[in-house]
Amino acid sequence: MTATVDLRHRIGGRWTDGSGEPVESWSPAHPERLVAAGRAAGDDELDAAVEAARQAASGWARMPAASRGAFLRGAGRLLAARADGLGAELAEEEGKTLAEGIGEVRRAAQILDYVSGVGDRVAGTVHHSPRPGERILVTRRPLGVIAAITPFNFPIAIPAWKIAPALAHGNTVVWKPADPVPLLALRLAAALVEAGLPDGVLNLLIGGPDLGRAMVAHPGIDGITFTGSTAVGRSIASAAAARGVPVQAELGGKNAAVVLADADLDLAVDQVAAGAFNSSGQKCTATSRIIVDESVADEFLARLVARADALVVGDPLDPATQVGPVISGRARESMLGAVAAASASGVTRLTSREPALGAAGDGHFVAPTVLDCTGTDAAVWDDELFGPIVGVKRVSGAAEAFAEANRGEFGLTAAMFTRDLGTALEAIEAIDTGILHVNSESAGADPHVPFGGAKGSGLGPKEQGEAAQDFFTHTTTVYLRGGA
Ligand code: UN1
Repeated sequence: MTATVDLRHRIGGRWTDGSGEPVESWSPAHPERLVAAGRAAGDDELDAAVEAARQAASGWARMPAASRGAFLRGAGRLLAARADGLGAELAEEEGKTLAEGIGEVRRAAQILDYVSGVGDRVAGTVHHSPRPGERILVTRRPLGVIAAITPFNFPIAIPAWKIAPALAHGNTVVWKPADPVPLLALRLAAALVEAGLPDGVLNLLIGGPDLGRAMVAHPGIDGITFTGSTAVGRSIASAAAARGVPVQAELGGKNAAVVLADADLDLAVDQVAAGAFNSSGQKCTATSRIIVDESVADEFLARLVARADALVVGDPLDPATQVGPVISGRARESMLGAVAAASASGVTRLTSREPALGAAGDGHFVAPTVLDCTGTDAAVWDDELFGPIVGVKRVSGAAEAFAEANRGEFGLTAAMFTRDLGTALEAIEAIDTGILHVNSESAGADPHVPFGGAKGSGLGPKEQGEAAQDFFTHTTTVYLRGGA
């Protein structure tokens, strides 16, 4: 593709070089291609970014919400107009397909547009008072300076859904994107700058985990929003708790798709394949466990396996590609190791391709893989792999299926396939999950409703919709009487 992009940080109103370690992003499909390069932010840049965010905080908080929203709307329009080009850059840098990359940029634009309407939404509540001549108002104030730490797998949509509500609710932000995908971060920050966002309101720092730890520990940070692994989320939460700083964390998943005896199998095969293999399974919402009633298991699995075996794996920029690479050689090795360990625990591979596609150095490709874990105690059934690998267990009846769905430490999303309304209603009671899809795939999230998990999949208030306000603001209860 194009020449390597120079990475810079956005601090206050300036684009600046970093003073830290070299930072580079490489194309996962073509590991010899250097997509972007620069130097990470060091301690001085972190201090400067937090200071810039603090300086900007009070003016931004006092600006009418509708005016704040207008900057987001402007940036959303710019992204929408650039979706094809940015989508290609995203596919090159992250590895999802071109269609998914363009779709993600459009989604980021939609999120910015949705959140930009904050000025028209409910800002608080008014309550009766037990005393005459008084009303009680509950109003909301921003937290202050938010640290946003975002993952590699949605390089522009997840940043948009964290940064846009943080800003819309009157906070300023210091943002660290995952270091494998700095280019799209640069593009989002540039769109907001171009839309006129005042200096210091959004600061972008590029770097690795050390920078993330330094942000979390920085005394100028008032709140932290994070998406990533459960282990990292919990360590952030414990470091933040010691300073009394609130954390919103979207963490891991091991999301079940429950296919019951009365399911529409055409629909279930389509949706389970999409949930498991889109974006190479690199979504916290991806389907990674299939729980299928034994009465339909043979037919369902034969069809799913045929679908998985036929998926075209390759260069994300080739329009024929359906599944791109995974993010890194290390991620690929860890997935292949998990599959090898599973087979040592008695798990049978149902798909015909070897999971290790291509030679080392060729691109980090992993074949869509279905593993039958029935009757085993394999770790692959419980551990998040974050790749195009899905386990299966056969069960008998809905009650056993729901119990199996509840197994393990996670509870982000679940999908279930049935034609029976009563069974669907029972699933709502029985499955402990932040998101439940009845007759649709486990992934996906709309910007106006809460997003986040139960159990080990989330910490703190949910994201998106009105739920975002619960994290990005705190309330002031005002007892309001006339002076007379
Ligand atoms: C989606 O399912 O489209 O990191 C979004 C993740 C989630 C977002 C998933 N926080 O995969």
